[in-house]
Amino acid sequence: MTRSPLLDTAFGFMPAQIVYTAVELGLADALADGPRTAGELAERTGTHAPSLLRLLRALTVLGAVRQQEPDLFALTDEGRRLRRDVPDSIRGMVGLFCAPEVWRCWGQLPEAVRTGEYVWEQVTGETTFEYFARNPELSATFNAAMAEATRNVAPALVKAHDFGRYRTIADLGGGNGTLLAAILSAVPGPKGVLFDLPAALEHAGRTLEEAGVADRCEVVAGDFFQAVPEGADAYVIKSVIHDWDDEKAAALLRTCRAAMTPAARVLIVEPVLPPLVTPELHAALMSDVNMLLTTGGRERTEAEFRDLLASAGLATVSVSGPLGHAGYRIIEAAPADPAPRP
Ligand SMILES: C[S@@+](CC[C@H](N)C(=O)[O-])C[C@H]1O[C@@H](n2cnc3c(N)ncnc32)[C@H](O)[C@@H]1O
Repeated sequence: MTRSPLLDTAFGFMPAQIVYTAVELGLADALADGPRTAGELAERTGTHAPSLLRLLRALTVLGAVRQQEPDLFALTDEGRRLRRDVPDSIRGMVGLFCAPEVWRCWGQLPEAVRTGEYVWEQVTGETTFEYFARNPELSATFNAAMAEATRNVAPALVKAHDFGRYRTIADLGGGNGTLLAAILSAVPGPKGVLFDLPAALEHAGRTLEEAGVADRCEVVAGDFFQAVPEGADAYVIKSVIHDWDDEKAAALLRTCRAAMTPAARVLIVEPVLPPLVTPELHAALMSDVNMLLTTGGRERTEAEFRDLLASAGLATVSVSGPLGHAGYRIIEAAPADPAPRP
């Protein structure tokens, strides 16, 4: 048979679960202090040595470990990123996107495309964020994954926008504070308000402390469909609008609009899809299908963002160029007159 790139893609579920299993077993952490045999690693990870040897050989061809002798394995530089305690860790992303709940949703993709229905709720019996509130372990993995992704793009965001012009910057759905910490570290003037559900804020204090900005940042737990803190002059909303369908996204933006003074700004940070797909949007397009399954949300084009903002009484002021490798942009919006009712 001639080689088929599509067939390679279809077999992608195998490497994905092999890497996920390495994360689940803590294999990279068990290899942190140097090369080990399968037997030694089996002892450290509580696993079946002959099966672990087979996993290690597969991880070798995936580039996560190096086979130094037939039964002696060391971490590669890429494999090191599966460790929990490294600054460029990808452990949370692997743990989240290959988690059993997400995996089961992806198994329903044909049905989701047939019906357009949001799968996560059918699979787990709860909406995504209700489920996280009751499952602290998956919630912690989710928060870690979001922080890993945000850490990558934060330097480009901070460089692209003049955050120094604001007195108070609120980050709505700001997760564990990774982005707000990066912004406040870069500009000495503004104060911050980190706003999210309680489950997301669990480790926020530590993130803000470590960045040395805890004394300039208030942490507020709440539901952005009910109310958001008033009086900020910038409302950053990163990777949040894409979690929701148009109705919920407009409701969230209306709550935000109701809290804004005429001079305040909304800064949506998300990838923006062009009308014609290009290869560099790979991550955003995969995320779009993931949103169909796991949150009921979607990625959007610039025209869709403009309409959504307008439906919430907000006028688009500017759309930045792409920032970072995932094609994020900053969509700046201001209150349009008159304000609609929340
Ligand atoms: C995809 S994450 C993005 C996190 C962060 N902004 C980032 O980019 O790293 C979506 C965030 O929205 C928060 N969220 C979901 N529903 C919410 C609600 N009703 N009120 C406040 N925050 C909510 C989640 O807890 C989560 O932290």
